Amino acid sequence: MGYFRENVERAKGYEPGFQPGQMDVVKLNTNENPYPPSPAIMKVLAQIDAEQLRRYPDPVGSAFRQAAAEVNNVEPGDIMCCNGGDELLTMALRAFCDENRPVAYPVPTYSLYPVLANLQACKAIEIPFDNEFNLPAKLASTNAALTIVCNPNAPSGTFINTSELASLADELEGVLLIDEAYVDFAEENCAGLVKDFDNVVILRSMSKGYSLAGLRFGYAIAQPDLVAGLMKVKDSYNVNAVAIAVATAAIKDQQYFKENVEKVKADREKLTEKLRALKFEVSKSYANFVLAESKNCKASEIYDKLVQCNIYIRYFDVAGLSDKLRITVGTREQNDKLLSALEQILSE
Ligand SMILES: Cc1ncc(COP(=O)(O)O)c(C=O)c1O
Repeated sequence: MGYFRENVERAKGYEPGFQPGQMDVVKLNTNENPYPPSPAIMKVLAQIDAEQLRRYPDPVGSAFRQAAAEVNNVEPGDIMCCNGGDELLTMALRAFCDENRPVAYPVPTYSLYPVLANLQACKAIEIPFDNEFNLPAKLASTNAALTIVCNPNAPSGTFINTSELASLADELEGVLLIDEAYVDFAEENCAGLVKDFDNVVILRSMSKGYSLAGLRFGYAIAQPDLVAGLMKVKDSYNVNAVAIAVATAAIKDQQYFKENVEKVKADREKLTEKLRALKFEVSKSYANFVLAESKNCKASEIYDKLVQCNIYIRYFDVAGLSDKLRITVGTREQNDKLLSALEQILSE
């Protein structure tokens, strides 16, 4: 007998975007924010004292819950802190799914969902999006214990209106988890649904809009009963003392956050326009990345040639995506380097 459970033995594991060792590359492959986090966090880091580290942290991150509740116009009891949004996905699968309780989601989407379903040994019901990434009607009738909708969707960057997700929440028997990891770059969000629906969990990440991917901090917004149930499956101290202090300072600095997000959104529009001028098909994005398809050159070829120029973007060799490239919106300088490299590659 092998040491591992059968589904762990069989699992390939999640494949994260490549993290190059050198810093002097143009890294547009993992949807990090190109700008630094709020300067307020450096002050907080400088003030961390040894006593704070000697003790265990606040198990529920009360300071952050309070600050996030104010920003989202909900109660602190509606917030649960997580070690990155990914941890909330793990918790949700653990809490809601098993052999008899499937998870459902539209595809293509975030490639972590099937990995977690496999580890939890639950069935994953994958409903294909249409070409425009509209919400598939069939999603409402899968009888899944957990339905996940990534909004804005990754890697398409497309957006489903809040009202459509409210109707879905209403129709579902099970829980609807709306993965809003990229919502900071969209025009609206679903936090308001939590007041009306006891089956909605919203996922938020501090990695994208707040430039804190290295910190590992995210949070859930849901009614207190769902939060209490999810807390039963979390590690006792799932967010550390430094992360709580830094994430709290970052979310309190809404002015810096908004200025930063507006810069990324403006550059996203410019990048989209310039890619279209290079004859790429690019759907309108509501995230900090765009999905582009060239009719003139194979996506895998473009990807390989960009790597030779020290420019990293993301290529997914899977159904529905193998002719497309996902490009994170970088600084203007990074975007310009990418665009001139693409111009060169397409003219060869
Ligand atoms: C769609 C989606 N959801 C959730 C996450 C989790 O983000 P984090 O764990 O960094 O908060 C990511 C990260 O890339 C993502 O792309």
